[in-house]
Amino acid sequence: MAIEDAHGAQEPPETPDEISRRTFMVNAVVTMSGIVGLGLVIPIVGGLVPQGSQQKGQWSPLTQAEMADLDAATKTPVKLSFAMTTKDAYLPPQTMQDYVWGIRVNPARFRAARPDLFVGPGDKADVPYPVINMSFVIFSPICPHLGCYFNWNAQANRFLCPCHGSQYNFDGAHLAGPAPRGLDPLPFRERSGIADIMWIRYASTTPDRIVISYKA
Ligand code: FES
Repeated sequence: MAIEDAHGAQEPPETPDEISRRTFMVNAVVTMSGIVGLGLVIPIVGGLVPQGSQQKGQWSPLTQAEMADLDAATKTPVKLSFAMTTKDAYLPPQTMQDYVWGIRVNPARFRAARPDLFVGPGDKADVPYPVINMSFVIFSPICPHLGCYFNWNAQANRFLCPCHGSQYNFDGAHLAGPAPRGLDPLPFRERSGIADIMWIRYASTTPDRIVISYKA
């Protein structure tokens, strides 16, 4: 059918070749847009997916002074500030300051005090790494209730969370408040005299330890 232009003049109808060429161009543009769109969407979606347990954590070394503080721990937990190394998939490693809590334990007594860490659902170890190393246990400073940072209260002789009142004893066992589990231990290793910590963030408000991230 003839098409009128803006001035009312009629243009000649398109030939089959012209129609076919136009259809091809439209399809090509739609296809290319889809490919470009996918290229943008995949990294965005990837960034939204929680980082699962397959992702590798980074070991962060304690300094000699931090190690000496930990070594001096007896009946009081030690707050260890350290430079944490984290790595995103698309970025170079980054370093930031954070802290953890370290306690010196008698392994047999600690195992008895925290059976939740050693026997999980299905009689499996609740965490896939040694909890006790060199007679020390390192706790994440993040409350398993909703993620606030808790503190050691010497008068109460327990860890207290300032947000909703969860309480934990020296061994990190849950004593009171809304937290669904005891404190979370972090991987800790010694290599040639250097002690390393790995940061893991576990999901809040669940009795199970589910890794959601290897950074703060
Ligand atoms: S975040 Fe610690 S008790 Fe709620």
